[in-house]
Amino acid sequence: MSSAPADGAAATQPATSGARKVYVKSYGCQMNVYDSHRMADTLASSGYTETSSPEGADLVILNTCHIRERAAEKVYSELGRLREMKDSAALEGRQVRIAVAGCVAQAEGKEIIRREKTVDLVVGSQNYHRLPELLARAHNGPVVDTEFPVEDKFEHLGKPSASKIRTRGISAFLTIQEGCDKFCTFCVVPYTRGVEVSRPAASIIAEAERLADAGVREITLIGQNVNAYHGQGPDGRTWTLGKLLERIAGIRGIVRLRYSTSHPRDMDDSLYAAHRDIPAVMPQLHLPVQSGSDRILAAMNRGHTRAEFMHVVERLRAIRPDMAFTSDIIVGFPGETDEDFEDTMRLVRDVPFTSGYAFNYSTRPGTPAAEREDQIPENVKTARLHRLQALLEQQRHSFNMRSMGACVPVLFDKAGRLPGQMVGRSMFLQPVHVMADAAIISTVADVEINEINSNGLFGTLVHAPRAHEAAAMELQKA
Ligand code: SAH
Ligand code: SF4
Ligand code: F3S
Repeated sequence: MSSAPADGAAATQPATSGARKVYVKSYGCQMNVYDSHRMADTLASSGYTETSSPEGADLVILNTCHIRERAAEKVYSELGRLREMKDSAALEGRQVRIAVAGCVAQAEGKEIIRREKTVDLVVGSQNYHRLPELLARAHNGPVVDTEFPVEDKFEHLGKPSASKIRTRGISAFLTIQEGCDKFCTFCVVPYTRGVEVSRPAASIIAEAERLADAGVREITLIGQNVNAYHGQGPDGRTWTLGKLLERIAGIRGIVRLRYSTSHPRDMDDSLYAAHRDIPAVMPQLHLPVQSGSDRILAAMNRGHTRAEFMHVVERLRAIRPDMAFTSDIIVGFPGETDEDFEDTMRLVRDVPFTSGYAFNYSTRPGTPAAEREDQIPENVKTARLHRLQALLEQQRHSFNMRSMGACVPVLFDKAGRLPGQMVGRSMFLQPVHVMADAAIISTVADVEINEINSNGLFGTLVHAPRAHEAAAMELQKA
């Protein structure tokens, strides 16, 4: 599958006096966004500084996604553009190196170098801590490393400096779990990310504390199946996600907590309790359902029925009546009839969602559903997709309209486009704009909403930061 590093002790490239620049482009999910940051942090110790565009970069890393055919193909068109950039830099005597990381790297390995000779390095999702060493080896010709190593990559990845954390904003992702053992019949993730592994709680807590100390106010715990989390706790017991949320909510400065992506099968009592008892846990959940038809859910190997999904929604709403649900839905899975699709539309109406992502089923090589002969024609998929997207859009709009005239708590994170305008997020991640002093950034304040358009919610500040957020403000000033 790959060539392993010949020598684990191979030298990290020494930092050169003229700082080299690395540009990392992320595709796909939040896990890749997190990994891209950690790759940049790891390369910082080899003298690389992060830059926000490929022009002028000495190293370009594409952190890729393999989930749907179009996502994977994007990588090759981007590589074509980068080849031209690399060739013209070479004419000026400047060497640019190109690396492909992420799920396409993991799935296609050396096939990438065969298809696109401009690539110097292919690095799978579990090997980012080896980047400095792999780049050193790539001086002698293309290198491929897509092994699943035994060591814990998280412990070996570079850590961001406090100033780096601040430039990334007051909301941060923190990976707590990786991989998936569920093998839904349409999905590549179990093959590209490997088996489900939970990080030990102590290392997650230390990372959350570092983020909070540097000014982060909102953390989203992420994983391919984040609520399957079962890491070792500092007390030697296995911790659930609910327990971890409770611990992280106690960290000074953290005012909001989220987690994503959850699987309906992995909701447990500790998580329901977290939504009931921890004010920092936001009343919002991304809970992919994929289909509303029991027949299709079974063929997808989702391991739950439509009724079981509805039970999760109802149980959470009983605890938190303001709970908002978003979802992922696939249309045109092999064998999906008009009736199955109508079941999906009915489920979406029954929940209803506050927004959602709908996808045409995409055939992924190596997955069981790709072998089926009853594939659905593209025009049928697309017609269904448009109907579903229209319904989800309607639901998003009516959810937004419910905020009209309401007073909503907003965590402010940056200046807006207009002079004097500040922007933050509601509990449900809607962007909210007000005219306010910049000192409001990184605090939670109440806003009365008086306008809603396609850019989000607009309103006036009605409340200074509330008492329980004052501590966070003090920390920020310190
Ligand atoms: N672990 C998450 C999903 C990760 S993939 C879960 O189990 O829900 C993100 C989304 O991509 C999935 O929820 C699914 O809706 C979509 N997806 C995955 N494979 C796909 C495929 N072959 N075709 C179309 N959409 C797909
Ligand atoms: Fe893919 Fe299913 Fe695992 Fe989600 S649970 S990552 S959809 S195999
Ligand atoms: Fe894509 Fe890999 Fe994430 S396939 S969705 S980048 S886990």
